[in-house]
Amino acid sequence: MRRKVIAGNWKMNMLPNEAIDFVNNLAPLVKNSTSEVIICVPFTDLFYTLLTAQETNIHVGAQNMHWEESGAYTGEVSADMLKAINVEYVIIGHSERRQYFNETDETVNLKVKSALAKGLKPIVCVGETLEQKETGKTIEVITTQIAKALKDLTNDDISNIIVAYEPIWAIGTGKTATSEDANESIKEIRNEIKKDFGTDDVTILYGGSVKPENAKELFTMSDIDGGLVGGASLEAQKFSKIVNF
Ligand code: 13P
Repeated sequence: MRRKVIAGNWKMNMLPNEAIDFVNNLAPLVKNSTSEVIICVPFTDLFYTLLTAQETNIHVGAQNMHWEESGAYTGEVSADMLKAINVEYVIIGHSERRQYFNETDETVNLKVKSALAKGLKPIVCVGETLEQKETGKTIEVITTQIAKALKDLTNDDISNIIVAYEPIWAIGTGKTATSEDANESIKEIRNEIKKDFGTDDVTILYGGSVKPENAKELFTMSDIDGGLVGGASLEAQKFSKIVNF
C-alpha cells in the first residue's frame, strides 16, 4: 500500500548500547510522525533495538537474509530467524551487497520470495551506476532490476513490499539526484510494476545522500513516498528532522 515511509539503514555501524541510546533519543522526537519510521540495523543490534522500540512507533528491520530456511550456510541468517525475534522488515538487494557480496538479480528474487513467504516485508533496492546514468541507461537498468527482483510475485505480494530507488552514484557521496530526476525514475519503476502486476499502489522510496536540507523537496514530489537514509540516520536528531520534514 502506498504510504509515507522514512527508513534508516545503519549499514555496519552502531554497537548495541548505541542502538539502545539511539532509540531512546529518537522515540520522543518522532512520536507524532505521520510517516512510518523504520530503522534497519545490524544483526547484532536487532534484539536490543526491538526491545527498546517496543512501546514506540519505530519499526525495525534487518539489512539482509538468506533465502533458504536452514542448513549449512555458515554466517547466514534465515527469514525464520528474523521473524522469530519479531523483525518486521528486511532490506534486500542493496547496491553494496550487489557490489561487494556478489548478489545478483536472481538471488535478490529468491530472497524477496522467501521473506514474503515468511511474513517479512522486504525493502527491495534498485539503482544505476554513474556509467549507466551517463550513457542514458538509467530507466532500462532500474526497470529490468525491478522486474527480475519481483519475478513470480503475486498481486497481493506487491502490497507487502517497499521499493527503494537508490542511484549508486548518490550513495554516501553527498550527491543527490535532482528531485525531478528521482521522481521520474520512481515513476518508471511504478509503471513497470503496474505493467507486471496491474497495480501501482506500492510505496517507493528515494535513497542517496538524503539529509534534513533536501528531505522536503524530495519527499513532496508526486511519486516519491519517502526515503531510505544511510549516513544521516546515524544521529537521532538529524534523522528526526528528516522524518518530520
Ligand atoms: P547515504 O544516505 O549515506 O547516501 O546512503 C544511502 C543508502 O545507501 C541507504 O540505503
